[in-house]
Amino acid sequence: MSERIQAPRGTYDVLPEEAARRAEVEAIARRILGGAGYGRIETPVFEATDLFARGVGEATDIVRKEMYTFDDGGGRMVTLRPEGTAPICRAYLEHGMHKLPQPVRLWYLSSFFRRERAQAGRYRQFWQIGAEAFGSEAPEVDAETILLLAELLEALGVKGTRLRLGSLGMPETRAAYRERLQAYLHTHEDELPAEVRERIDLNPMRAFDADDAGTKRVMESAPRLMDELAPEDAEHFAQVRTLLDDAGLAYEIDATLVRGLDYYTRTVFEFTSDALGAQSGVAGGGRYDKLVEQIGGQPTPAVGWAAGIERMLMAGEGVRAPELPVDLYVALAAADARRAGFRLANEARRAGLAAQVEVAGRSLKGQLKHANRIGARHVAVLGAEGASVKDMESGEEETMPVEQVIPAVLRGRR
Ligand code: HAM
Repeated sequence: MSERIQAPRGTYDVLPEEAARRAEVEAIARRILGGAGYGRIETPVFEATDLFARGVGEATDIVRKEMYTFDDGGGRMVTLRPEGTAPICRAYLEHGMHKLPQPVRLWYLSSFFRRERAQAGRYRQFWQIGAEAFGSEAPEVDAETILLLAELLEALGVKGTRLRLGSLGMPETRAAYRERLQAYLHTHEDELPAEVRERIDLNPMRAFDADDAGTKRVMESAPRLMDELAPEDAEHFAQVRTLLDDAGLAYEIDATLVRGLDYYTRTVFEFTSDALGAQSGVAGGGRYDKLVEQIGGQPTPAVGWAAGIERMLMAGEGVRAPELPVDLYVALAAADARRAGFRLANEARRAGLAAQVEVAGRSLKGQLKHANRIGARHVAVLGAEGASVKDMESGEEETMPVEQVIPAVLRGRR
């Protein structure tokens, strides 16, 4: 026997039972997001590498070390999408969606790829449900997207959620703040571990994420970006908060909320769940008013989020896959009934019934057991003379010519 080939690290298979649960998740997302005017969008699995380098940001972990990038064979560098926002901005531009009535609201359910250290809740191919709204800077759109996300998490039964909310202001404010933070961190270098020190110049805000006691102490007195917001950004944030307060959604202000992507402006947010372990982030997002411009479009404000499907399913028990009905199981009492049984099952399916026929060569007793196991509503036992149709719920049994089986099952189904 040859050596068995296994799935790559950090990937997993979605088996039928799980796939059915996911279909339910998708149906719930479609109801909530579709109901709020979001249209489903699908973009390619790979994109020009430049889209992410420019969009997500050269200094982010994602772009520096997590992307699956390769030459497409024609000298063009392409990357398996690590996230959905930059691709959707590209699609918005490419299809002239700025000419549509704004805001343009789009949602997606897709898989994404990041070369991360695989562990529970963290995969190299994972799935997200996301929503993006383009063309409005109204705080109502920020609040609406957050409320829709909260509704989705609730509908999926995600337990123990907490919402953290912050504002990053505009890039100019952030650039000035970044310099102040860098200067502050440099004056405390001797209290910081090497990995934090090395990032001072590259990405100083990440120091807020460090877990070691020394850095935590230093960060307690570090300057906070939220204290330095421009008046119009502070006002925008206040309005988002008021709208969330009016809706009765609980949140915590987190002045140190740092997202792992560079495109954010103004509002940022993250939902965590205590039902998860170390990877407690269930969903996150924010406003990205400069991203469309950054990838070559006209200035277009936008806001959105993405929620990890694996983590939502891990943190919730609310989603149950609906049972798939089997209207008819065709059992064979005699070997020469095979052909007629096959035909009957096929015709039953064409008539709109969920129907299966015995193909495993089981004994009649074995077939009836199997029909029971798969929850068949009716079993038709085909013999030399016609069929005997049993209603598995009522236990009633009737003998009839084969041609009458389908009408009988259709009647019984109602
Ligand atoms: P993100 O925070 O990188 O944001 O990812 C959003 C969610 O995807 C996370 O909260 C987590 O649930 C899930 N996720 C991320 N990486 C992994 C992984 N390796 N394994 C399993 N789940 C994962 C974004 O991707 C932004 N595009 C969100 C956004 C949309 N911002 C604005 N619009």
